[in-house]
Amino acid sequence: MHTLENLDKEKILALLALANDFKNGLEVKLKSKIFASNLFFEDSTRTKMSFEMAERKLGFEVIPFDASKSSVNKGESLYDTVKTLESIGINLLVIRHSQNNFYNELKNIKIPIINAGDGTANHPSQTILDLMTIQQEFGDFENLKIGIVGDVKHSRVAHSLSDALRKMGSKVFFSGPEEWFEEANFMNDTYRNLDELVPVADVLIFLRIQHERHGEKKYKDEDYLKKYGLTKKREQKMKPTSIIMHPAPINRNVEIDSDLVECKRSRIFKQMENGVFARMAILSNALQYRAKSQD
Ligand code: CP
Repeated sequence: MHTLENLDKEKILALLALANDFKNGLEVKLKSKIFASNLFFEDSTRTKMSFEMAERKLGFEVIPFDASKSSVNKGESLYDTVKTLESIGINLLVIRHSQNNFYNELKNIKIPIINAGDGTANHPSQTILDLMTIQQEFGDFENLKIGIVGDVKHSRVAHSLSDALRKMGSKVFFSGPEEWFEEANFMNDTYRNLDELVPVADVLIFLRIQHERHGEKKYKDEDYLKKYGLTKKREQKMKPTSIIMHPAPINRNVEIDSDLVECKRSRIFKQMENGVFARMAILSNALQYRAKSQD
């Protein structure tokens, strides 16, 4: 899976149902050994570890790959690296890369390649776990008002998630520093002032400021929180049923007041929990296994 573009609403719902089945204890019986490897050319904690957890829960053998010690540092291309791993018998690869659409250069590779985040473009496994978290809360996506707040321009999470949410029937709005919305053409006139968005949104998703993609730091932490972050004052203005999400890692007291990270309406660690099951569904779909319950 490279993006969710080719998945319609029905297919996404089927993937979410499979993820929930895994959460409820569904197990797979592999017909033969599966060797998987996770190639992370950008840093990661959640995505890398939860893909590995998902692979182990599915019974895969996980072959370690350390990008910083690999022959990429001798100038080997991504294609040659991947072709090498395919040649030595790896059956499935999970790849995170700083280059948008890196998978376009891997079209000749036969084994499944799962995108664990490409530059500022896509983060499909994050989207599936985010949808799973929203579905668990509200049951359906139709007409939910979702606010995506922060560094939208540099966020692969925002790109993937907003497309998928619209497909599922939700209404997506954006907020945050206006200069980060220039060139963000997927927004379709849906920018809202944060204080207008807070009392009407069913879900508020705060995004990490992608300092690594900006160069210099434009805002002082306390100024950003006051203007564009979730303060305690704003949290009190949310609807009683509304929830808070963040893909993490979180810049505490920048995008969100640290005391709200684990507050009653926060689903941030629930998102991480769901990530393992969402990735089990993505992996098993990629290999087209027939999953069988133990019972
Ligand atoms: N949400 C997310 O992608 O986190 P990591 O960068 O830690 O994988």
